[in-house]
Amino acid sequence: MEKYVINGGRKLSGKLRVSSAKNSVLPMLAGAILTDERVVIKDCPKILDVFSMIKILNVLGVKTEFCGNDLVVDSKNINDYVISASLGKELRSSIFMMGALLSRMKRAELSHPGGCDIGARPVDIHLNALKELGVIILEENGEIKCYAEKMRGRVIHFNFPSVGATENVMLASVLAEGKTEIHNPAKEPEIVDLMNFLNSMGGKVYGAGTSTILIEGVKKLSGTTYTPIPDRIEAGTFLLSAVITGGEIELSNCNAKNIWSLIHKLCDNTCKVTIKNDIIYVKSGNERKSFSFSTGPFPYFSTDLQAQTMALLSVSKGESQVTENIFEFRYRHVDELIKMGADIKVKGRTAYIKGVERLNGAQVLAEDLRGGASLVLAGLNASGTTVVENVRHIKRGYTEMDEKLRFLGADIKTIYD
Ligand code: EPZ
Repeated sequence: MEKYVINGGRKLSGKLRVSSAKNSVLPMLAGAILTDERVVIKDCPKILDVFSMIKILNVLGVKTEFCGNDLVVDSKNINDYVISASLGKELRSSIFMMGALLSRMKRAELSHPGGCDIGARPVDIHLNALKELGVIILEENGEIKCYAEKMRGRVIHFNFPSVGATENVMLASVLAEGKTEIHNPAKEPEIVDLMNFLNSMGGKVYGAGTSTILIEGVKKLSGTTYTPIPDRIEAGTFLLSAVITGGEIELSNCNAKNIWSLIHKLCDNTCKVTIKNDIIYVKSGNERKSFSFSTGPFPYFSTDLQAQTMALLSVSKGESQVTENIFEFRYRHVDELIKMGADIKVKGRTAYIKGVERLNGAQVLAEDLRGGASLVLAGLNASGTTVVENVRHIKRGYTEMDEKLRFLGADIKTIYD
């Protein structure tokens, strides 16, 4: 098993360039099969979730090749539409292969998707929306089998602004007959990025980021070369790494607007934050002051930064409350933080935190992607040595987190045993 070994107490400092967004690249990899021409995703992060999606594409007959940091996808010879349970279980993103496969192959067969174990993660919003577009769907023993000779545009209302379901409908309707409207879609920056990606292929998608997305079906999509937006969650995670260690760092390739809710809170925590173009500079304050927050759909506080921010609040002066409104159980990191000396009590969807002076190193277990990142941040603060086990979870969403933290002055190394 791969582990991070962290000797805490070092103040981080230096400059770091943020990678492209995992949650943009994954739907784009699905979208790449909507054309038989070459698609190039520039600056593609080499993370485990990307390699899992590549495995799925290769099994379907799609050629992929990294040229430096650019990923070239050629689906000219795609010849299958079945995603095996073992592959589909590796990550949540297998679900939006459904919309793309239905557009390209008229069929899709896959199992209920995997991904972080942070709640039930049903797919009812996805399936109901696809049925509206004319897809015939058979569900049995956890398998989903879909067929659509030709999808037809419809007005679709979401009862919850699901990110994945919004992406699935965009991928399914961009080549459908007629117009599709999605009311109450997700408004995350990655949805806007997917719209721009599809439009760079000749798609006609409008309104992503607002409360209605309009997709006019086109006959054909062409290849493209596209650079995804920066990863706002990676940016937020590294900003927090500086603050939890009392350091100061400068991040480039950022879009501060996309993590405005976190930046506001860091100012409450007494940090100094300066923004200039794609640069975010953060300098820790003299003492860390607690603040409370609730997660919600964009532009509210991102659920993907909840665990990492909870690590900071564990060592911030005063009491705070964190309410997780997106996933029903995204607190698997709490027990591990408590092992390190954090004072946290969870009641329902709310965690009540009393800040302590400093955490203590311990042996802890990463149980999901962002929970794992939270434990790394806690280890950077803690006295003594922290061993974070099962870092495979972390490598699903961060490229070389240990290397980047070492570059900023952290004492962290990877061991295998
Ligand atoms: C995407 O997951 C992201 N993953 C998640 O990031 C992120 O936390 C989430 O959006 C919310 O922003 C990717 O983009 C690959 P949802 P997704 O559909 O699409 C319920 C990370 O750490 N729901 O918006 O699965 C669901 O149970 C990962 O990078 C239904 O009830 O999120 C959840 O409670 C973790 N029925 C809520 O909606 C459905 O059909 C949000 O889910 C779909 C979702």
